[in-house]
Amino acid sequence: MLIIQISDMHVKAPGELYKDKVDTHAFMERAVEHILAFEPSPDIVLASGDLADLGGQREYEALKALLARLDMPVYMIPGNHDNRERMVEIFGDSHAYLPRNGGLLNYTIEDHPLRIIALDSLIDGEVCGIVDADQREWLDAELSKAPDRPTIVMLHHPPVHTGVPWLDTFGLREANELGEVIGRHPQILRVLSGHDHRPIQSLWHGTLAITAPSTAHQFFLTFDPKSPGHWGMEPPACLVHKWFGADNGGLITHTSYIGDYGPHEDF
Ligand SMILES: [Fe+2]
Ligand SMILES: [Fe+2]
Repeated sequence: MLIIQISDMHVKAPGELYKDKVDTHAFMERAVEHILAFEPSPDIVLASGDLADLGGQREYEALKALLARLDMPVYMIPGNHDNRERMVEIFGDSHAYLPRNGGLLNYTIEDHPLRIIALDSLIDGEVCGIVDADQREWLDAELSKAPDRPTIVMLHHPPVHTGVPWLDTFGLREANELGEVIGRHPQILRVLSGHDHRPIQSLWHGTLAITAPSTAHQFFLTFDPKSPGHWGMEPPACLVHKWFGADNGGLITHTSYIGDYGPHEDF
């Protein structure tokens, strides 16, 4: 099974720019081309939040038009830049897995060799996120139903300490409480997130937590506690998760850069 994870696309309506500088719509178009050109074709795409920059209707409509070019399922969760009601309104017809009960967008996908559990960590109006006690109870119950099924958990806000001071102030609240649930279920092969616009890996409560880079702009690496944080145009990228089976190599995660980096030379 092959999974491509895109994240933090911050898609704007065509002609509008992120911070008046970045054509995130064009970058998303390139990400779609990258997915379409990938060999072999991925079985599914995960989109780990900050799908649209301002959660606007025209932004989601633009994203929907771009995603319509993909013929594999795309599973999305909201990030702090998203608007969950508008996501359901615009994607509900084509993305049947999205809950339509007016609540949080938590769901489980059972259709593939890897089980996917998605958590909605968006707190309206805040940059930080949370997986609250009710969600943690739901997650614990979902995981308990299938202890032998290899599972990926996805949420927008990384639950880990990144070591990047300004990012860690905008992370996930009650992360340790979530970690206690995660640690009880050894079938979890990855906890995948976005939000930090960088590829970051950390062992966390018995599993591997990985943060995806953005398909557009990235956040520069710093360990300086006085840094307010900076963004810029390091190369856009996505994560590629290849499942070889439990007895055949397990789950391998690669970072795949989006863009033209010159010819592929023969050795
Ligand atoms: Fe983001
Ligand atoms: Fe975010």
